[in-house]
Amino acid sequence: MAKQRRVFVCRECSTTSVSWTGRCTGCGEWATLEESAATAKSPRSSAAPPAHQTLLSIDRTTSIPIPTGLSEVDRVLGGGIVAGSVALLSGEPGIGKSTLSLQIVQSVAASGGSVLLVTGEEAPSQVAGRADRLGPIPPTVSVLDVVDVHAVTATIAELGPQLVVVDSIQTMHDGDLDGAPGSVSQVRQVAGHLVAAAKRHGCTIILIGHVTKDGTLAGPRQLEHVVDTVLSFEGDRNSDLRRLRAAKHRFGATTEVGLFEMTYEGLKPVLDPSARFLADRLTDIAGSVVVPILEGHRPLMVEVQTLVQARAEASSQRTTQGVGVARLKLAIAVLAGRAGIDLGPYDVFASVAGGVKTEDPGLDLGLALALASGAAGEPIAASVVAIGEVGLAGELRSVPRMDLRLHEAYRVGYRTAIVPSSCLDGPSGLRLIRCQRLDQAVQATSRVRVG
Ligand code: TYD
Ligand code: MG
Repeated sequence: MAKQRRVFVCRECSTTSVSWTGRCTGCGEWATLEESAATAKSPRSSAAPPAHQTLLSIDRTTSIPIPTGLSEVDRVLGGGIVAGSVALLSGEPGIGKSTLSLQIVQSVAASGGSVLLVTGEEAPSQVAGRADRLGPIPPTVSVLDVVDVHAVTATIAELGPQLVVVDSIQTMHDGDLDGAPGSVSQVRQVAGHLVAAAKRHGCTIILIGHVTKDGTLAGPRQLEHVVDTVLSFEGDRNSDLRRLRAAKHRFGATTEVGLFEMTYEGLKPVLDPSARFLADRLTDIAGSVVVPILEGHRPLMVEVQTLVQARAEASSQRTTQGVGVARLKLAIAVLAGRAGIDLGPYDVFASVAGGVKTEDPGLDLGLALALASGAAGEPIAASVVAIGEVGLAGELRSVPRMDLRLHEAYRVGYRTAIVPSSCLDGPSGLRLIRCQRLDQAVQATSRVRVG
């Protein structure tokens, strides 16, 4: 016999508690506990052991990905969507989740798959209008305008679609359970029903979930454990660039990044990212240099820009965009301590141009060289790139995939690379200037003639 008991679940960290407390004992946040129904089951009596099978005999063909037809999405998913799996597509409101999922829907349907689109968030007429703008609407796309999860699972059972998109998980509701749509218990329960439906009917389900400003999924962080794949769709409001990455992917690697540009006709893949990021570059300005960074497995040329200015207030400012402020402070400290360039009395700004955000350690050397160039008021030659991590002793270290980075630099027209001394040869035609220490790199860079 199952009996109901009440539990309280933290919206932020999913810690459970048998009574309501003002402060979560797990993460210490205030007023984050929400009531949730849990079912306590009495212990089983002697049941027959379940059947088992050999690993070798299990059908593996069901987990082969099916391409969506959108190259950047397939890149991130390691080939495409997997039948019976559930993916969560998360991102801030307005970033383009509905647009991306509609493009996936139209692409999958165009190659013959049947698709169910659940529009809890927008009116079907609104969705149809947008779909018209994005491309031809195949006849195999059905729209369901409900918020009741049981209506969704019943329709899945009836239609047997290949792909289902639920926009959004936060608008869905299970009437068997108390709580408003979007609450922890509702979101979890609704997701549970949909995961079960995906497995039962062998369809792929994409759940769209909004994230709050601080980056957590509104309420249902525990969804991440329930689904097979967590995709996050990110971008800067002031830029058209969008990136899709997998935070979790049960069927492959999570290292690939998909790049898109938001246009009037929807999201377009960015096919030559390096060219895009360098298109508007000014080459005769002190304080900037180009660095081949890695986005997933893909090399990407970005421009690091810095500005060194007389201090405006009592304490010096350090401001960054696209790169962590800690990295800038480290570069300033190592320049002062190991290369005799003291930026202490100055305001220093650093940014990665084009709306790119990166944590690639290979950016360190470029950042330090750009600062040295800005401080001296001498531009770095336009044909130069820099790659390397900078240690606290001022030593330069190689970073992963130097070969890929050097080839990309050569492909887009760079002819000189400042690199750590351990770096192996790159393409012939690309001159490598190997340096052991940052001060040597600063000097070598200023010796490469501008122009
Ligand atoms: P949307 O997909 O609705 O975002 P989300 O579902 O994540 O909340 O898209 C939001 C923005 O994208 C919206 O401000 C309009 C813009 N947009 C375009 O620029 N071009 C397009 O073709 C579409 C469909 C939307
Ligand atoms: Mg939307």
